[in-house]
Amino acid sequence: MSAQPREQWASRLGFVLAAVGSAVGLGNMWRFSYLTAENGGAAFLLLYLAMTALVGLPVLLAEFAVGRGAGKSPVAALEHFGGRAWRPLGMLFVASGLLILAYYSVIAGWTVRYALEAILWGFSADAAAHFGHVTTGFLPVVWHLFFMALTIGVVSGGIKGGIERASLVLMPLLFVIVAGLAVYAATLPGASAGYAYYLQVDWDEILSPHVLADAAGQAFFSLSLGMGAMLTYASYLSGRDNLPNQSVWVAGTDFAVAFVAGLVVFPLIFVLGLQEEVGGSTVGALFITLPSVFAAMGGAGTVVGILFFVALVVGALTSAISLLEVAVASAMDTVGWQRRSAALVLGATITVLGVPAALSLDVLGLMDQIAGNVFLLAGGLGLSLFVGWRMDDPVAEAQAGAEGVRWFFLWRGLLRFVVPIVVAAILFGVTIPDTIAAVRAFGG
Ligand code: TRP
Repeated sequence: MSAQPREQWASRLGFVLAAVGSAVGLGNMWRFSYLTAENGGAAFLLLYLAMTALVGLPVLLAEFAVGRGAGKSPVAALEHFGGRAWRPLGMLFVASGLLILAYYSVIAGWTVRYALEAILWGFSADAAAHFGHVTTGFLPVVWHLFFMALTIGVVSGGIKGGIERASLVLMPLLFVIVAGLAVYAATLPGASAGYAYYLQVDWDEILSPHVLADAAGQAFFSLSLGMGAMLTYASYLSGRDNLPNQSVWVAGTDFAVAFVAGLVVFPLIFVLGLQEEVGGSTVGALFITLPSVFAAMGGAGTVVGILFFVALVVGALTSAISLLEVAVASAMDTVGWQRRSAALVLGATITVLGVPAALSLDVLGLMDQIAGNVFLLAGGLGLSLFVGWRMDDPVAEAQAGAEGVRWFFLWRGLLRFVVPIVVAAILFGVTIPDTIAAVRAFGG
């Protein structure tokens, strides 16, 4: 239907960095840190690592294989390999992308504002009041709009000229900042207590189903899985890329950035003994605790804080573009829209969807619970069943260009049995009941 030939990545590195760019975002620094704090530190870290390897990595490779194999965006790709019956799964992917970006952009908007205000005036000593100020009233809508405009701008530029170019510049910048911050954090007086909390496992914590569910949900969210973002990026590959290797690189880098972000965040919060506060709240945790640390540390704190928030903005932007790209690519492939108009119309729709989240933290939390947890796990379950059981020869699709990869023989078995069982147990046993409770609490 589309008259234009399909766009492609200019280089292998460009593809990998764009996929890493999608993966590394607010999830690695903000969501990962508060979940780790809330779930007892090291125990969570370990479970999250296990979930990344056993569940995240196989699904990531599945998305890559379907995307490259079909050379199409999610709805069309699932239809290509599975027939029309699988279109609804593709629709779920697109819906998840729209909803996740709607609230993700609100948080990213706060982040931009924090970064700019810190550059102009430093960090406010009363961080909680400042957070309240940033997240209430009408201004969050304006910053959300601003961030969506940035995202739309990059996606309009296309694969090579927009997304790839942005990723090639922004991702190395983010790596350098986060690594530099970790080195600095090691010199702080509270560092060792922070490391102890972050790295010493408390074995009692590990057995809770909620911790397990959070770890699995985070593995999906952080790797951008369960809604076709990685599938869409892989659809712009042409040659015989080594997909298993590339999925290890992407998952490994994503984990590494989260891990190093923890090496920044935990020493910082232990400098002022604020660990209780981080574990206590959710959405606001890092936006309150860390700025209060930055404010207390004087000039050095301001510089460190600015760099921290710049890294967050960078990560958020490269993730947001992947969320928008799913919807844009779908509109281009299935109804033949031009990229620019698709980016504008869909971006505007998402902006509108995000307004309630910009006006209410409770709405934002609920959207994260529904789209960020339930939809992603459901999408991942559907995709693992699709690739594990429905696709005729997924092994051939994934293995082309990767004949020598040693762990590859495990992939199909993980995808057929381990992933669906683990994900279904968590989805039906924990995530959906929790979500129903959250929706009830919201209504009542
Ligand atoms: N992975 C990103 C992060 O950690 C967020 C993100 C981008 C995402 N694309 C996604 C999450 C697709 C789920 C699905 O911040």
